[in-house]
Amino acid sequence: MEMDLAGFWVAVAVSLAALFWWWNDYWYALPFRLHPGSVKLPPGYMGIPFIGEMPAFLWYFKLLCRPDDFINAKRRKYGDGLGLYRTYLFGSPTIITCTPSATKMVLQDESSFSMSWNNVELVGATSLVAVEGPAHNRVRALVVRAVNQPDALRKITLMVQPRVLASLSSWSNRGRITAFKEAKKVTLASIGMYFASIESEDILETIDDLVTGVISGIRAIPINFPGTALHYALQCRRRAKAIFREELEKRSKFEASVAKNDLMEALMQMKDEEAIMWAVYYLAKYPEVVVKLREEHMLLCKKLGDLVTYEEIASCKYTTKVVEEIIRMANISAFIVRTAKKDVDYKGYRIPKGWKVACWLRYFQTNPEHFEDPMCFNPDRWNEAPKAGSYMVFGGGPRMCAGNMFARLQVAVLLHHLVLGYRWKLVNPNAGMTYLPHPNPADDVEIDITRI
Ligand code: HEM
Repeated sequence: MEMDLAGFWVAVAVSLAALFWWWNDYWYALPFRLHPGSVKLPPGYMGIPFIGEMPAFLWYFKLLCRPDDFINAKRRKYGDGLGLYRTYLFGSPTIITCTPSATKMVLQDESSFSMSWNNVELVGATSLVAVEGPAHNRVRALVVRAVNQPDALRKITLMVQPRVLASLSSWSNRGRITAFKEAKKVTLASIGMYFASIESEDILETIDDLVTGVISGIRAIPINFPGTALHYALQCRRRAKAIFREELEKRSKFEASVAKNDLMEALMQMKDEEAIMWAVYYLAKYPEVVVKLREEHMLLCKKLGDLVTYEEIASCKYTTKVVEEIIRMANISAFIVRTAKKDVDYKGYRIPKGWKVACWLRYFQTNPEHFEDPMCFNPDRWNEAPKAGSYMVFGGGPRMCAGNMFARLQVAVLLHHLVLGYRWKLVNPNAGMTYLPHPNPADDVEIDITRI
């Protein structure tokens, strides 16, 4: 009798543990069980209540430092033909897409999938990254014209260089610098200069702090009350906007009407500092690439410190490949998120209305089926175009990065002056990697740098 009771309690405990372990799967699959039909949820595991698969996510990204195995493990367990997996991440039921066709289906269909902003007031409800449809097309065209087309790029090339030159010179005067920190200053100065002619280091530093404050609020709990992260982020946004307004009002000749409204948003989308940091990192690791770059840039016959033009930079074919390889390896946007506006069926599986969809971009660039030996830095792989749909660092569809040419140009301009004028080495060549919130060498790329 005692045995039976013990057995009963063990059975209850095991059942409760199983219910707990698969709670999200039971709960979110309930509508499908109640109305069995031809569609079902994509395969996957949604984890325990509220937490979902966050422990597995953190295990691969933070502890093992092998982020791509998060997807590899799913492919092994649930098969890989479909390219969709169900999960529960960051507090939401989520579908992961990790094949070109599934990702394209999501990114190109704005009528079914919308941008996901937790605290939309931080990015501005009417800003480029938040508006949709014709309003988005209109604002986007302005931003693209202002930062991503040849006329603008020609101006940007000349405008950013004095700052790049001054920064490199200050790096070598100090001898030892942290590339991530310094790259941030260079990119901020470039965009501040281009959009609003702001040159003062103090103002730029204040803006940097404020933009960091705003970004930190985007994922915060949406409670606006003194003391909360959202409240602080909103204050930062107001202060940053006030600075931009004041600076812009001082300059009557300023013509890019887009800047007044979208400067803040463009700053929040800028991820160039990471590309620049990775440029410094990979070139220190691959001196043979530096030699080839140097040869190419010497052919431009510039004296040290001369400005280079957009056409000259564009003529450097090897540099173009190096820049692309840096951006591929940097994997700056690991995934981008949408929300399903309605039930969407794909190959007999359902993405339910209201669920998040995480398009796992980094998996495209790190998948050996797309890029041979993907973790090896090899600019020559760009002798051939990548397989269609296999390269998505800048996203895709109508919201593809509006500053992708600006980003490439900024890295190429920096490379020009760096390889011609300086030599540098990593202080900690064996520094570990961190992958959250972004991939980063653990020491933020500390280097010793001198003039040639
Ligand atoms: C290597 C650096 C960069 C990377 C990897 C990158 C990546 C991306 C990605 C993946 C998206 C798509 C987001 C989505 O669909 O949810 C995006 C959007 C965007 N990016 Fe970039 N970006 C970079 C640099 C820049 C720069 C330098 C600028 C501005 C000068 C910029 C401006 C934008 C804007 C405005 C959008 C929103 C476009 C829209 O909603 O229509 N980005 N970026």
